[in-house]
Amino acid sequence: QTIKLEDYRATDFVLHSVAMTIRLFEGRADIHTTLELERRKGVDAAAPLVLDGDELTLTGLALNGTPLEGERYDASPQRLEITGLPSDERFTLDIETTLVPENNTKLMGLYRSNGIWCTQCEAEGFRRITYFLDRPDVLARYEVRIEADRSAAPVLLSNGNPAETAVLPDNRHFAVWDDPFDKPSYLFAMVAGDLDSIHEQFTTASGKPVSLGIYTERGRATQAGYAMDALKRSMVWDERRFGREYDLDVFNIVAIADFNMGAMENKGLNVFNHKYVLLDPETATDVDYAGVETVIAHEYFHNWTGNRITCRDWFQLCLKEGLTVYRDQEFSADERSATVQRISSVRRLKAHQFPEDQGPLQHPVRPTEYREINNFYTATVYDKGAELVRMIETILGRDRFRRGMDLYFDRHDGDAATVEDFIACFEAATGEDLSRLALWYGQAGTPTVTVTEDYDAAAGRLTVGFKQTLRQGTAGTGTAPVHIPIRFGLVGPNGQDIDTASVHGANVAGDVIHLTEPEARVVFENLSERPYLSVLRDFSAPVALDHPQSEADRLALARLDPNLFNRWRILNDLVGAALTTASRAPSPEIQAPLTPEIIDAILGSAGDESLEAAFRAQALALPGEAEIARMLAENVDPDTVHAVVEAARRGVGKRGAALFARLHADRETGSQFSPDAESAGSRALASAALGYLAAATGDFGPAADQYAAAGNMTDRLAALTVLVHRFPDTPASTSALDDFYARFKHDGLVIDKWFAIQATIPSPGAVEIVAGLASHAMFSLKNPNRVRALVGTFAAANQLAFHRADGAGYRWVAERLVEIDRLNPQVSARIATTFRSWRSLEPVRRDKASATLRQLLELKDLSTDLRDILGRSLR
Ligand code: ARG
Ligand code: ZN
Repeated sequence: QTIKLEDYRATDFVLHSVAMTIRLFEGRADIHTTLELERRKGVDAAAPLVLDGDELTLTGLALNGTPLEGERYDASPQRLEITGLPSDERFTLDIETTLVPENNTKLMGLYRSNGIWCTQCEAEGFRRITYFLDRPDVLARYEVRIEADRSAAPVLLSNGNPAETAVLPDNRHFAVWDDPFDKPSYLFAMVAGDLDSIHEQFTTASGKPVSLGIYTERGRATQAGYAMDALKRSMVWDERRFGREYDLDVFNIVAIADFNMGAMENKGLNVFNHKYVLLDPETATDVDYAGVETVIAHEYFHNWTGNRITCRDWFQLCLKEGLTVYRDQEFSADERSATVQRISSVRRLKAHQFPEDQGPLQHPVRPTEYREINNFYTATVYDKGAELVRMIETILGRDRFRRGMDLYFDRHDGDAATVEDFIACFEAATGEDLSRLALWYGQAGTPTVTVTEDYDAAAGRLTVGFKQTLRQGTAGTGTAPVHIPIRFGLVGPNGQDIDTASVHGANVAGDVIHLTEPEARVVFENLSERPYLSVLRDFSAPVALDHPQSEADRLALARLDPNLFNRWRILNDLVGAALTTASRAPSPEIQAPLTPEIIDAILGSAGDESLEAAFRAQALALPGEAEIARMLAENVDPDTVHAVVEAARRGVGKRGAALFARLHADRETGSQFSPDAESAGSRALASAALGYLAAATGDFGPAADQYAAAGNMTDRLAALTVLVHRFPDTPASTSALDDFYARFKHDGLVIDKWFAIQATIPSPGAVEIVAGLASHAMFSLKNPNRVRALVGTFAAANQLAFHRADGAGYRWVAERLVEIDRLNPQVSARIATTFRSWRSLEPVRRDKASATLRQLLELKDLSTDLRDILGRSLR
């Protein structure tokens, strides 16, 4: 059944309040919900009340305190319809349901993870707890009472502020939580269990004290310190940057081992995948630290962008997600390095969103229809959604953007809003016309911007042409010209921007060209020499750039551009183009896909000590194999792509051997580990150097030494990756893998790294390796992190083996998908998206991949989640 945006209408009944009692027992949870409801003005007096359910068992139903007779209602596991309700006065409904949290393997609704009772309700999980108007535009005040055994669950948490606790007979107790802010059901949460915790106090800018708590499984609270620190920094940042203060007396976070996604912003009670809370230097890498910081900030920022202002319907998901990703990116930019943060956001966008937008799963940032909303928590909604907000900021400028945001918070606090509401605030606050920007929300696909340059030396005039094109894709959502802000500069030979006062033609304001028509021309006059044109600085729009600049110009900009982001971007594009070309050419070309000039540019950045180490490490990171495949767009042979990337690595490694040896030798060892961005950058640079050294020399010695001496997980994992990926089956590699396992076998989060590193061994034999690991004692189909580490990582990040020409990689993943789907459809559907680019493969693999998809789709009893992904992938 397809849900359509155009079919939106408000509910027939208005919900005023919710009172819940949750009684937890071993093997059972009894839920008693009291709803205060009222028929909406103007609604037919005979209209029934229809509530959503999902696999529910009704055990009691009463209207205004009197049990309802059977003929007044119709209950099934997925629906409760009640007739004959009062036409114009408030009434109460008491609904009782009973559940078995222990059997809830979908991890949606109320379930148990390592003994802890917890909930996940976004998007439609609340209906797995009780019958409800389970949609984001139904907002109400909740009072929640939780009862449980005092030993099994000494800690009882829900949304809002704590109200009352007391002891009951039979070693039981209860806690009441009262959330004063109206909220939709997807923000409900409840946690009960035997938890450890850490606590701190925070005082908001206006002096309000807030008690902060982070709860973990027993024995792990010591790993929550960095998350607590990130939370406090997030709270301060939102006050300073957006004037947003926290609004309850408490803010709690719970870390859970079995969790479908990263984390969830439930009001006052965020629930996290413990991967994004628990850290220490021995078990977590710098990447993990950065991930915790980002996700903690993201969920905290949702308190305003998502909770205080929520979404009218799920089509508006980007209203909270795109905006909140934009906010967490800005936070990370301020806390760390803005340039490096932007590089990593753009890498992520290109790695995840571009392929989605260019394949059969493409959809607009605001979709207009869906079958399964869980399949729309995508890179397009999140990351492209963030780019659209960023473009609004670029178009308006920082100050006027803030004015628009202030108006949004003012006007829509307490609302379930739409994308139109959001954009209208910026227009109202600034008088700017954003209609061509708004078109981005409805059109799928990545626009291409073509740039041409024409320099007239005699006249000292540079004429630059811009053209935007958008190809109609499978979503069929139109190709109208949109507003594309292009940040630019003219760079002189001394590496400084030339003053561009003498410019006319298209709409240029400061350092931004506003391309709002299919084509535009900009003319720069009074130039004494031909400048280097640097466009799309900071990646000011999520477009594919077609700028046929000479290699000499690009090499100059890679060295000179005062916009550091563009230094990286232009070099990365140059390398990407060379690797793509080599991947198309017959095999002899593979020997040296990068020219010495390009390699010197890479080495120049990597060796430039005036630059941040993290930036230098980014300069060394070649485009990945999936990225090359995406740029090739058709007839992709992953074996060739792999060979080309390998040859490039050897080429860089050989030419830079001296530099890499020095960078690796200079790395800090033995000193106290600090997770700060600067230290992390140095470690990333040293690790990149180690990888190139190994590629160039074929010597595992330095990696084995680094593994043996490693004082933290970042250095240890970097060394292990080099050993296992470059020297598989050697004693050095196997003994390091065994040592790693022996050290960390008690810690699932680290064992996930152990699985993932083997799932990504760049060898066709990795299919047999993952097949063997699937029966390892530490593997479990029930833990989403474990499944993603082995199956997800293999399919997403092992191009060589997943795409093995005999189809064995596809078959192995397909078999696992069927098993996972029976337990947890959200996880199976997500992993199945790794097939999405099958059409761009060479014919043999293309046929094998599509046959695998078709065979899967023929199976009965697939979840709607997986069926939806498979069906759309074959479009
Ligand atoms: N709102 C959560 C976040 O972005 C993610 C929820 C994902 N839900 C889902 N059904 N996939 O922070
Ligand atoms: Zn979010």
